[in-house]
Amino acid sequence: MQKSIEKSYQIEWPGWSLSDNKYGKEFDAEARIRMIETGRKLLPYLLDNSAIFGENFLEIGPFFTPILFSEELQNYLPKNHNINFLENDQNVINWLSEKFRCFIFKLNIDSTTFFHDLTQKMTAQFGYYKDFYDVVTMSQIVNYVDYKQLLTSLFPMLNKEGYIFLNNVVDYGIPILFSEQRPKSNQEIIDTAKAIGYKIYYKEEQPKMFDEEPNKRLILILSK
Ligand SMILES: C[S@@+](CC[C@H](N)C(=O)[O-])C[C@H]1O[C@@H](n2cnc3c(N)ncnc32)[C@H](O)[C@@H]1O
Repeated sequence: MQKSIEKSYQIEWPGWSLSDNKYGKEFDAEARIRMIETGRKLLPYLLDNSAIFGENFLEIGPFFTPILFSEELQNYLPKNHNINFLENDQNVINWLSEKFRCFIFKLNIDSTTFFHDLTQKMTAQFGYYKDFYDVVTMSQIVNYVDYKQLLTSLFPMLNKEGYIFLNNVVDYGIPILFSEQRPKSNQEIIDTAKAIGYKIYYKEEQPKMFDEEPNKRLILILSK
């Protein structure tokens, strides 16, 4: 049976128009809806832990569905929260800055100067970078980047009472955009995080939500 598309999904995005979709069925209307739905997988974990959140938030790779601006979360964020995004797509950056009160770092995670650039920008903006972030979210991005470099770079920036929330299915997404440095398995992500020095605060493997996923979904919460 043909799956029907809910009218309420906003899937027409600036610079990534459905009528000029270069990525075929991996990024058609149904794939976008799957991305939106599976991007929400972190919400229950964010809500469950919101009482212990500090005020500095960083979302990495929000695309056009920033989880930190989800309706469900708004009443549970601390009063004076500061939301930052890290993104390298200029269309996304323009859209985010028009719609939301946030600060955006335009950076390429795969650049060899990524750590240096981020620490410089954080220091210019906030005065320091060490132990700065209380909550970092990375949902469905580690297939697209050098995730070891990303997790390593974030370690000094995470507050001692802070958490990183990760949501990912290995090898699921838009293959042509995948990074050579993507994880090969959920266990590899866990082992890499531990080797960097993170503690595993919570881990869960979830079954497929659609028929499409090649692997189980990993929900991982890291602390220092
Ligand atoms: C599949 S989208 C994830 C969207 C959303 N977080 C979710 O859970 O569905 C991947 C995101 O990673 C960003 N991204 C990919 N490669 C990147 C890079 N090298 N540097 C910074 N951001 C990158 C993309 O622009 C996009 O926002």
